[in-house]
Amino acid sequence: MTDMRAAFYDSYGDVDVLQVGELPDPRVGPGEALVEVRAAAVNPVDWKVMAGGLDPLMEVRFPAIPGWDVAGVVRAVGPDIPEVEVGDHVLAYGRKDWVQAGTFAELVSVPVRAIAHKPAELSWEEATALPLAGQTAARTLRDRLAVTDGDVVLVHNASGGVGRMGVQLARILGARTVIGTASERHHDRLRELGATPVVYGEGLADRVREIAPGGVDVVADFVGGVYDVSQAVLTEGGRYASIAEHDVPGIEDRIVWVRPDGAQLQWLADLVADDRLEVDVVRVFEELEDAGAALRANREGHGGKVVLRVSED
Ligand SMILES: NC(=O)c1ccc[n+]([C@@H]2O[C@H](COP(=O)([O-])OP(=O)(O)OC[C@H]3O[C@@H](n4cnc5c(N)ncnc54)[C@H](OP(=O)(O)O)[C@@H]3O)[C@@H](O)[C@H]2O)c1
Repeated sequence: MTDMRAAFYDSYGDVDVLQVGELPDPRVGPGEALVEVRAAAVNPVDWKVMAGGLDPLMEVRFPAIPGWDVAGVVRAVGPDIPEVEVGDHVLAYGRKDWVQAGTFAELVSVPVRAIAHKPAELSWEEATALPLAGQTAARTLRDRLAVTDGDVVLVHNASGGVGRMGVQLARILGARTVIGTASERHHDRLRELGATPVVYGEGLADRVREIAPGGVDVVADFVGGVYDVSQAVLTEGGRYASIAEHDVPGIEDRIVWVRPDGAQLQWLADLVADDRLEVDVVRVFEELEDAGAALRANREGHGGKVVLRVSED
């Protein structure tokens, strides 16, 4: 067994606990493909896990490599995996049942159920920025809220990684109007993506009613802490789902958790290839040694996607 370079941490803590060094190459087991990582994307869950925030929910085995999003080249496949071949260009939301061997590494083994093929039209950066954020948006708006023709949709945190996907998917699914909350600096971009932007915070319900006097049919909450204002603007029988509301009892059936799903990811990747969906990569860090800086950049919360390049073609 040889060693690969990876960013990893030996105990929970701030981003400072991250180091870059050598760890054994991952095994490629049944149901898995070994991917040489070209690029990994950063998500808030990466630094939340690192800080111990998901400890009650998920086992973390140290040393732990962060990262669940990957785009790269298949280098080996486990037994009986007809879905992918060595040399294929792929992308995945590669979350496993416990946290240990993530994508901030030269190599990662990924469950084949999570994998989609990368259309040539997508750059490595776009491909890796798509899975977690795009699939969260798809699971929320397409699979759970069933957005359809004529809906008026409110997206909270429309400028974040998930939200920029969400406003576009709502339009693709047929929404008549998509209202997106964000800071003013992101309003022009949200208009380009098909949303009517509003600033969040006090008075939000009034601003939403100005745009949608009859109320909204669907609320997709991508930030948390907005349950009351959401109920205030929903029409009777309107649909609400949240990916980030942890403090409201009794709404467990409306909480969405993204899950690895290669077919759903292929749908998204093909939309990007067809120029129907845009991936907003706002910052690229050029090498594995920048992993800590990339995590910090995401934690500062500027919106859009932050990507870490790991290797060149
Ligand atoms: N349950 C799941 O499966 C799942 C999946 C993915 C993400 N998440 C969670 O969902 C949240 C969003 O993820 P993300 O990747 O989109 O995060 P992100 O890209 O880091 O979101 C950053 C944006 O949040 C916006 N924001 C902050 N406070 C806000 C408020 N009160 N109202 C509206 N927007 C606000 C800021 O917008 P401005 O810059 O415009 O101010 C900022 O740009 C995170 O907490 C993440 O952990 C959950």
